[in-house]
Amino acid sequence: MNEQVIHYIESIVKERPPLLAEMEQYAEAHNVPIMELVGIEALLGMLRIQQPKRILEIGTAIGYSALRMAEALPHSTIVTLERDEERFDAAQSFLSRSEDRKRIVTLFGDALELGEEVEKHGPFDAIFIDAAKGQYLKFFELYSEMLSEEGVVYSDNVLFKGLVAQEEVEQKRIRNMVKKLKNYNEWLMNHGQFDTSILPVGDGIAISKKRGDRS
Ligand SMILES: C[S@@+](CC[C@H](N)C(=O)[O-])C[C@H]1O[C@@H](n2cnc3c(N)ncnc32)[C@H](O)[C@@H]1O
Repeated sequence: MNEQVIHYIESIVKERPPLLAEMEQYAEAHNVPIMELVGIEALLGMLRIQQPKRILEIGTAIGYSALRMAEALPHSTIVTLERDEERFDAAQSFLSRSEDRKRIVTLFGDALELGEEVEKHGPFDAIFIDAAKGQYLKFFELYSEMLSEEGVVYSDNVLFKGLVAQEEVEQKRIRNMVKKLKNYNEWLMNHGQFDTSILPVGDGIAISKKRGDRS
């Protein structure tokens, strides 16, 4: 999306409550990659329509998107996973200051090793993937098994600053990540049990709706 349009949308988005504004400032000051404002607003819009009762988030960071989802969806429970200790601790500290804390379950560890623990809290109506870009396919395979019948998987960063559309990417590490994301996008688009659309908002959000039983 063009910068001018992004700034325009940012300028008219409602001010966030003080705790969330503080988290945005903390993320900026400590280089924590929380979701872009336009992206999270789009995600919340979709979730408000879907009204999931249980949400699984892969990638808590400091708890910003978890808290935004909890605020936007007062009847939902959110289970969120984080493997970075410092960020996990920051999330605990920020979330403890919110009334919505009681509807957010924070689990520490690598998402690929937390399956059994997570399953106890499922099934989930929505899964939000926002963690290591190279592992999206594995996250999807593991956790889409825990989706409810009408479940939706939302994957953030699938356009990776537009790099997935570029012919050549110079830096090797970034090139590998782009390759994995492109592979994920194509795999998702051809998945037999999900219908996927990619929205070019924020860093790119893929929406994958389980087909369910059509017979
Ligand atoms: C983009 S940040 C999440 C931002 C957050 N969803 C928000 O918008 O407020 C991604 C987070 O995922 C965590 N992460 C990456 N791979 C992970 C994994 N395999 N298991 C658990 N956490 C992971 C990182 O440590 C990082 O804090």
